[in-house]
Amino acid sequence: MLKDSFDRVIDYIRVSVTERCNFRCQYCMPEKPFEWVPKENLLTFEELFEFLKIAIDEGVKKIRITGGEPLLREDLDKFIKMIYDYKSDIDLAMTTNGYLLKGVARKLKDAGLKRLNVSIDTLKPDVAKKIAQKDVLKNVLDGVEEALKVGLKVKANMVPLRGINDGEIIDVLEYCKKRDITVRFIEYMENIHASKDLKGLKSKEVLDILSKHYSFKDEGFDGSSPSHYYVMDDGYRFGIIEPYEDDFCQKCNRIRLTAEGYLIPCLYFDEAMSIADAVKRGDIKTAALVLKEVIKNKPEKNRWGGEDDEASNRAFYETGG
Ligand code: 5AD
Ligand code: SF4
Repeated sequence: MLKDSFDRVIDYIRVSVTERCNFRCQYCMPEKPFEWVPKENLLTFEELFEFLKIAIDEGVKKIRITGGEPLLREDLDKFIKMIYDYKSDIDLAMTTNGYLLKGVARKLKDAGLKRLNVSIDTLKPDVAKKIAQKDVLKNVLDGVEEALKVGLKVKANMVPLRGINDGEIIDVLEYCKKRDITVRFIEYMENIHASKDLKGLKSKEVLDILSKHYSFKDEGFDGSSPSHYYVMDDGYRFGIIEPYEDDFCQKCNRIRLTAEGYLIPCLYFDEAMSIADAVKRGDIKTAALVLKEVIKNKPEKNRWGGEDDEASNRAFYETGG
């Protein structure tokens, strides 16, 4: 079992397979980065898998594939199958923008993927085009329908932004509710990579809007998820994620691996250690030591909103959010 120095069990790894993306979301990557990680620096699926085997043997139970946009990496289903064939009861999930989903949902499901998170910030094509800076909505919604059809569990993420999609909170929730998709409203996290004048809605404002339409009860956190859940009278659940809070840190169970092989103990800190050289040499022992070292150094809680705000400026598209 992997435990950090605050006695938290680490059993969840988020693996970013690429930092590239085919969207330019205002809140994440409004402009193409000056340079992408050169393709030859990316770990191959075999190398990533060698590392994941160590993590699984040490007790990791949940793996989420992220990006950038993970579906930009060819043969992602083969990577999923490697993990699934090694341990079929791993909770195997992916976060995607959904654009390329329709054509591959069946393959991903057959390879062993269980769950998907998709961004659904709006149901209006022109608003989607404004947020992602590309005409994306039809593909995304078609992808979601296909994913549901092939039997993948789907969650949706919505980042409510003032004057952009804040009038659609109820509509997005209704869309999700009809399809048994859990929606999570994420407070916009300011970051130096995002467009300058975006303003996010605070969770309280989102809850105020929702409480005018529905009655619901606070269910608190569900396990180690950073999402706070609420349940409506008819049993439908939705979530709110407040990244500036730190009450979810006490139960944090996750670390992140970037596409280049950096292991990141906390999203809000710059600290990271690379497993790339070790896995490239086939030196499993060293990779396992790096994993343990990173977990040992996992910070107690995030450091946003403090007096001297030193939160990491690493882009979310590098770390998989
Ligand atoms: N603030 C809040 N959420 C963000 N995401 C990406 N960037 C931000 C940000 N600045 C979330 C989006 C997307 C997921 C991959 O990460 O909801 O669905
Ligand atoms: Fe791409 Fe996701 Fe970032 Fe949008 S939020 S630019 S889809 S990585």
